[in-house]
Amino acid sequence: MAIETRHHLLYGEDISKQFVVERWPLIGKPRKQFTALEKVSFYIDEAETVGLVGESGSGKSTLGEILGGLRLCSGGSVYYKGLNIREMNPTQFQAFRRNVQFIFQDPKGSMHPHFKIREVIGEPLKTLRLCCDSNAMSRLVEAMIAQVGLETDTADKYPGQLSGGQCQRVAIARALVVNPQIIICDEAVSALDVSVQAQILNLLKDVQKQHRIAYIFISHDIGVVNYMADRIVVMNRGKIVETGTAQQVFMNPVDPYTQKLVASSFAS
Ligand SMILES: Nc1ncnc2c1ncn2[C@@H]1O[C@H](COP(=O)(O)OP(=O)(O)OP(=O)(O)O)[C@@H](O)[C@H]1O
Ligand SMILES: [Mg+2]
Repeated sequence: MAIETRHHLLYGEDISKQFVVERWPLIGKPRKQFTALEKVSFYIDEAETVGLVGESGSGKSTLGEILGGLRLCSGGSVYYKGLNIREMNPTQFQAFRRNVQFIFQDPKGSMHPHFKIREVIGEPLKTLRLCCDSNAMSRLVEAMIAQVGLETDTADKYPGQLSGGQCQRVAIARALVVNPQIIICDEAVSALDVSVQAQILNLLKDVQKQHRIAYIFISHDIGVVNYMADRIVVMNRGKIVETGTAQQVFMNPVDPYTQKLVASSFAS
């Protein structure tokens, strides 16, 4: 299962992560650690969708956050376009952060309740100092709102006035506005009704075709992952237990853990 080259768009090599769960009193040194990831290697190339699947606690979000630079790993390295992200200069790191965006399960929770949707979507442009002209920013935000299938007047509403599905569209617009190469979707449709789920999944597919975006699609539901992904990576207890094309992994799982996941997806 070793990955030989670093010539991928994004590549995590032998990623390990230990969380400190208990410290010695006073001296504060770690007393007890929990290994969430153990030498996991993962790659993604331009415009592909890689599904990351596994039960709750298997380490999917931790891996996604490390690959996207939100969290540090305890061992191993992350390379974006062949550059180790820990060795990047500030300009390179900023470009990396712009190019790797996230969509989470609870978009409302990550939106400031007193910001209008136009401010929510424009926020990454400001944070990354990508657009200083307010007219240009307004036009870009409105184009994003149209792109994700929301009404124009959504721009002046507040997150609390939108449904879960509408909020997830806003989260997609917010990720898209900086023109990223990769979006890490962490349980992005898990909180939605099945019919809304299908609409959001299809929107993500349309957006991918138009902008050649790569998705790391994290979900505990292998059925959803199979619908979205070209390749599937299966994780169990912090390790990769199986990888392959979506067709291979879903239709012909080899590892008993994957077989269990597939069986439970048919049962539900
Ligand atoms: N900050 C932390 N401190 C201690 N342990 C943590 C921390 N964050 C995560 N963990 C543990 O690491 C393991 C992996 O967590 P992670 O959130 O990556 O799992 P997951 O596969 O995304 O699960 P879910 O499907 O529930 O989102 C879990 O056992 C979790 O309890
Ligand atoms: Mg998670």
